[in-house]
Amino acid sequence: MSEHILITGGAGFIGRFVADELLRRGNKIRVLDSLIEQVHGETDGAQMLNAEAELVRGDVRDKAAVARALDGIDSVIHLAAEVGVGQSMYEVERYTSTNDVGTAVLFEALIDHPVRRVVTASSMSIYGEGLYRDADGELVQDADRPALRDNQAQWDPVDDLGRPLAAVATPEWKRPNLASIYALNKYVQERTTHIMTKPYGIEGVCLRLFNVYGPGQALSNPYTGVLAIFASRLLNGQQPMIFEDGEQRRDFVHVSDVARAFADALVLPQAAGGTFNIGSGHHRSVRDVAASLAGAMGKNQIQPEIVGKARIGDIRHCFCDTTLAADMLGFRATQDFDQGLAELAEWVAVQTAPDRVAQMRAELEARGLVA
Ligand SMILES: NC(=O)c1ccc[n+]([C@@H]2O[C@H](COP(=O)([O-])OP(=O)(O)OC[C@H]3O[C@@H](n4cnc5c(N)ncnc54)[C@H](O)[C@@H]3O)[C@@H](O)[C@H]2O)c1
Repeated sequence: MSEHILITGGAGFIGRFVADELLRRGNKIRVLDSLIEQVHGETDGAQMLNAEAELVRGDVRDKAAVARALDGIDSVIHLAAEVGVGQSMYEVERYTSTNDVGTAVLFEALIDHPVRRVVTASSMSIYGEGLYRDADGELVQDADRPALRDNQAQWDPVDDLGRPLAAVATPEWKRPNLASIYALNKYVQERTTHIMTKPYGIEGVCLRLFNVYGPGQALSNPYTGVLAIFASRLLNGQQPMIFEDGEQRRDFVHVSDVARAFADALVLPQAAGGTFNIGSGHHRSVRDVAASLAGAMGKNQIQPEIVGKARIGDIRHCFCDTTLAADMLGFRATQDFDQGLAELAEWVAVQTAPDRVAQMRAELEARGLVA
């Protein structure tokens, strides 16, 4: 199937890979992106976007711009967003405006310009804590941690009796537990996608992405992309800043695998109406990935700073149960992690990155968002 596809936020990290993948599959691409400064800096943002994609600079909240961008479009991939859990906890209006209102504007415009399918990027952040198993072997959906305090001995969630819970892979059926404004926004985007498609004869699909990494992730944005943030610190000869004790576990999925997932989710008939986790199926501690990245960048001598404090809104463990995406979409992440890190290190080595991590920490601490 060859279509004319609109990618909102398509000049961003994931969007550029999705554009490449869809162009490779014979589609025509238009990108609507406002090229926000936090992600694109002072650049025109078009440098890394595939030259065959048409870039329309515009805001997803601008009705006229969205209507124009939808002209002649067959399907939409909706990625435009402000991305950052911690920052969303004080830039509440900015996040809610782009993420929720922007999504509302897009779907209202789709009433007059219906398309075959919309695939929206959701996030693992909607789960809050991932799924856990208690000491009796029962699954726990609403795990919570002890009240956070400096250098606490117990970062892991516990049950009512204070017994530790064991993290297990998180499937799509786990109840959302919205612990940040960003998570709330992503859930609104997800529900809006499903609510506003079926009645209008459009197919809606949501992909809950886990931690996406790869070359091209904004090194200047200290609020998202833990590997990019660590890489930017190491590049500047600074210690990666690891919150808590570094033993929190995440699922790192390569951006090229994610791009394939979007391209498949756009066409597979059985994806319509579905919501799927997209991850690698492997989990790693943040401390381990920091060490592996330092090794890949030849910066082993720079030890991370273990902050011993948590950011409000962060969760302890969440990693991906990939079963549904494998069964329904035939999706399996194939990128080897060490090779992915080596490629990331190679890309980072020829970049310059303003280090805004200290500023990020100061912004959060000033508001009591690091405990
Ligand atoms: N990177 C991850 O690990 C991850 C994980 C889960 C979900 N996601 C989701 O995937 C999507 C893409 O993320 P990314 O990592 O590529 O982020 P990114 O910041 O690189 O890309 C987002 C793009 O959206 C654009 N944008 C922001 N506000 C806009 C607006 N008002 N109008 C038009 N464009 C606007 C930005 O300029 C940017 O190019 C987002 O929806 C994000 O929530 C990302």
